[in-house]
Parts: sequence; C-alpha cells; structure tokens
Amino acid sequence: MNYLDHAATTPIHPEVQKAIFEAMNHFGNPSSLYKIGRLEKKVLADCKQVIKDELHAENSDSIIFTASGSEANNLAIKSIIAEFFEEKGHLITSNIEHPSVRKVFEWAETQGFDVTYLPVNEEGLLSADEVAAALRPDTRLVSIMTVNNEVGSMQPIKEVGEVLVKHTARFHTDAVQAFGQEALDVSELQVDYLSASGHKINAPKGIGFLYKKSSAPLLPLIAGGGQEEGLRAGTENMPYIVGLTEAIKQMAARRPEQTTLNKELLAYLQEQLTANGISFEMNGYSESNSSHVCNLWLKGLKASQLIILSDLKDVMISAGSACSAGSLKPSPVLTALFGEESERLQESVRISFGLGSKREDIDEFIAIVKNLAKRQK
Ligand SMILES: Cc1ncc(COP(=O)(O)O)c(C=O)c1O
Repeated sequence: MNYLDHAATTPIHPEVQKAIFEAMNHFGNPSSLYKIGRLEKKVLADCKQVIKDELHAENSDSIIFTASGSEANNLAIKSIIAEFFEEKGHLITSNIEHPSVRKVFEWAETQGFDVTYLPVNEEGLLSADEVAAALRPDTRLVSIMTVNNEVGSMQPIKEVGEVLVKHTARFHTDAVQAFGQEALDVSELQVDYLSASGHKINAPKGIGFLYKKSSAPLLPLIAGGGQEEGLRAGTENMPYIVGLTEAIKQMAARRPEQTTLNKELLAYLQEQLTANGISFEMNGYSESNSSHVCNLWLKGLKASQLIILSDLKDVMISAGSACSAGSLKPSPVLTALFGEESERLQESVRISFGLGSKREDIDEFIAIVKNLAKRQK
C-alpha cells in the first residue's frame, strides 16, 4: 500500500497505540474523589500541560478536549455568535476555510450577522492588510485557518494577530492541518482560540481540542456535569486524551526530520514528473507552504481517472479534500483560487506526506501518471 493522503487522516503511531492500551487499564473517572479518580484527574492535567507547553500557552489558558477538529471549530465560533446574538455584528473569515468553519459562518448570516469572506490569491494566501481593511467597529470575530487542507498554503497568522491587537474582535485559527506539523506559539500568534485534531497527527479519530486564551469568552455547546472547566460536559475520553498527548510528543520530537523528509519527497516528486515529460504546476503554492501538503495540476490528465487507477494499484491520493472527494465535486478551494471555469478543477490531485512516507510511494504514483498520459496519447 502506498499512502499519500496524510492530510485526510494518518496511521496511528505505534507508541500512541501502546499509550492508549495502557490507559485503558485505568478506568477511574477524573471527577471521582477516591484514589483511582484522583489519579485520572492528575493524568488529565498533565496531558493539558503537555499541550500548553507545545503551544507556549500561559498556565491560566484553557485546553478543552473535544471529539474532533470540527467540534473545536464549532465551539469557538458558535460561542462568539451566542455572545452577540442580540446585538449581532460583523464576522470575518476567508473563502477557503474547511466546511466546519464555513458552514457555521453561513448559518450566522441566516441569523442576521454580516460576514466578510476574504478572497485569497493564486498562492492560496490572504494578507493582514486585507484583514485590517475589512475590520469594522462592530467586528466580533476573525477566523482564519493556519494551513489549508487542500493546497497547504500557510496564512500570515502572526501578522493578522498584530492587526487585531488594538481591536476588540476575537481571533480564532483552525490549526487542524498545522498543529504538530509546524511549531506554533500562541503568544507570538496572538490568537484567542486555536483548533486541532488528533487523527491528523497519528492519534485516533474522535479526539481533538480547542485552545482558549484565559481572557477569551466561551459558552459551552454541551451543558452537563461541569467537566472541562464547565465548557464541555461529558466524562473525559481518557485513553484518547492520553493517546493524543503521546502523538503530540512524537510529532514534536521528529518535526525537524519529518519536515526535511517532506521537502525531499516533494522535490523528488517534481523531479520525477519533469523527467517523465509530465506537464504540471503546483496549485496554491508559495515558499511559505506547509511541507506536508501539495496540490498538483497535471495538465490534460483527468483527476477522476487518476484516482480510479491509483485505487486499483493501492496508491492513495485525493482530489479535493476527503470530505468533498466522496462526491468528486469540484473543490471549493481550487474554485476560490482559480474560478469555476479553470481546467485545473478537473485535473488536480492532492498528495500529502507523513509518518512512513517514502520515495517508493512516489514511484508508484508516477508509474500511474505515466500510464494515464500514455493512454491519453
Ligand atoms: C483544516 C481542517 N479543519 C478541520 C478539519 C476537521 O477535523 P476533524 O476531522 O477532526 O473534524 C479538517 C479535517 O479534514 C481540516 O483539514
């Protein structure tokens, strides 16, 4: 099997699996007052500390565990919408956000909020000046993703954070594709909220978290027993919280070497395409891109055919994001970058690297591309 779709999801790291199995031996409820409960409460606090350290967060800031990155995004954005539900106001986001952000903003519009969807350029980037120009006195929230899931463009979050320092608007970033891959420092980025997800960093599906700065408001989506500082009720999923924490440690330890490997693999992919006479361009690419995602326009080759041929050979790539790939509809991100009429929409695939990625995966992919190109001739 040649897995080249780490932006969709990732294999579980063996050390993460081990940590989860071990954690399953401890069944105490962190809210219980007797010893096995108190022990779990300590484990929970230690896990949060690891995440705070990774993000350079203050001790007074919060880490709220969620069941997914989507839930973390919903929690932050809906919370601000709820806070200003009577007054309404203005919200800013980009036009290439993940559906778990975009759809919440679309819903906010139906509830009477004004939303500005900032466009990105062909490199998949917006600028802090554009955010500054869009701000209004009644802007309540700015939500800009850190790294795009389809093209890998990395937004100037730090610069946007600087713009927002003097404004009352809160700042959220969907860092699901960035957390773990990139070294992130929330005090430098000056974000109020940051979302992340376990299954993108070699932990299981079903666990994520929202970082919240201590001064930022948050209203729970799930009311109940007061867990997670009263911000997300429900008895904590301790084995997955432990697994996520182990995945973060593993990711941080191998980040420099994984980044170097990702860059080498991308260079090798480009070299091999050129050597085999395949005409291509990178979509939404600039020097600042995250190293693990790339989006290729393979000129004249239908992505739908490439996906089928790849599947037959057990090579896993994606056209558009995993969420929209099921239907093979044109990618909303590529549409935002190049317009509805662009032939790139039908001729582009996403390749993404991670744990275990190797040159042979690319060799297999190149063989399929060559085969399709030959048939087209
Ligand atoms: C940028 C981005 N945000 C949010 C999500 C949603 O994360 P989850 O699958 O954990 O809900 C994804 C997943 O593809 C993503 O890539």
